[in-house]
Amino acid sequence: MSFTVLGTGMYVPDRVVKNDELANFVDTSDEWIQQRVGIRERRVCTNQTAIDLACEAAVRALENSGVQPQELDLILAATVSSEMVSPGVAQMVQHHLGATCMAYDINAACSAFIFLLETAAGYFARGKAKKVLIVGAERMSRIVDWEDRSTCVIFGDGAGAAVLGEGDGYLDSAFCVKGGDDVIKIPQFIGKSPFFEKEQESPYIHMNGQETFKFAVSSICDDIRALLQRQNLTADDIAYIVPHQANKRIIASAANRLHLPIEKFYIDIERYGNTSSASIPIALDEMNRAGLLRRGDLLLLTAFGGGLASATCLLRW
Ligand code: UT7
Repeated sequence: MSFTVLGTGMYVPDRVVKNDELANFVDTSDEWIQQRVGIRERRVCTNQTAIDLACEAAVRALENSGVQPQELDLILAATVSSEMVSPGVAQMVQHHLGATCMAYDINAACSAFIFLLETAAGYFARGKAKKVLIVGAERMSRIVDWEDRSTCVIFGDGAGAAVLGEGDGYLDSAFCVKGGDDVIKIPQFIGKSPFFEKEQESPYIHMNGQETFKFAVSSICDDIRALLQRQNLTADDIAYIVPHQANKRIIASAANRLHLPIEKFYIDIERYGNTSSASIPIALDEMNRAGLLRRGDLLLLTAFGGGLASATCLLRW
């Protein structure tokens, strides 16, 4: 027993920030951002927190699935940008919904949504859950350095969620973790202990873009090839590949290496930028509501990012 996706939801804040507006803060241009990353605009919070976004996406996913909060056995959430270290996003979503089930967060940066699916699959396999809500929610605008043009132009705020119920839709997964903080890190506030001797690093995203780019392309290609081979499938059997939306050129490079048409990949980065753990569930919700997904379709979800980590799964819709 694994699970099937019963419904999806997403929420992004109203404020749209187009590339031109960013040129007011940093030395950049609409042309550079569109060509090098593929983003036209992103959403940015003006008065909502990551938890607010998570709660709204969760409510929409429950509505879409027809599941009541009291039916939930588990809520799992992921974030790297919540204002709150504790309570976790999942616990605040539980509170907002008036649910009573177990709830906790997982930290796996941009690939976290697939780690949430994998964790949920374990609960279904052990018969410990019949209905699970998973949420990725980010206010990335809180943790980018708005004076660093190599990061502040690429991220956006948003949340995505899915409700899972018993079924046999989670078919396989592949993970690659290369732990280390030399390529991407987000240091926390170091505290005010009079005994601690290390200096505060700036508490924003530090990212070596090119190293991340290389890791992303090679790991998602390796993961996708491994899953297809293990499941005796070819790309023709797959309705859509839903990639983490970090850079359109990463997706194009992966498509090229895998000899796949770019149309096989769902792409919405031009409207939201990189929303980290929310990027895949936002894409899934858009596809779901646009009627792109038919029951029985095979999907590959593939993500990469801080950790470093990559994660790919094969899902039957
Ligand atoms: O979700 C987490 C995972 N993150 C990612 O997957 C990010 C992966 N990496 C990337 O998407 C790309 O590496 C970036 C978008 C971050 C950067 O693009 P790039 O093509 O790798 O640029 P680069 O770092 O090689 O920089 C090329 C030039 C540099 O100028 P010089 O040294 O050649 O004069 C940068 O200073 O582009 C410059 N540059 C910019 N120019 C205008 C960097 N950022 C900007 C900017 N506007 N926003």
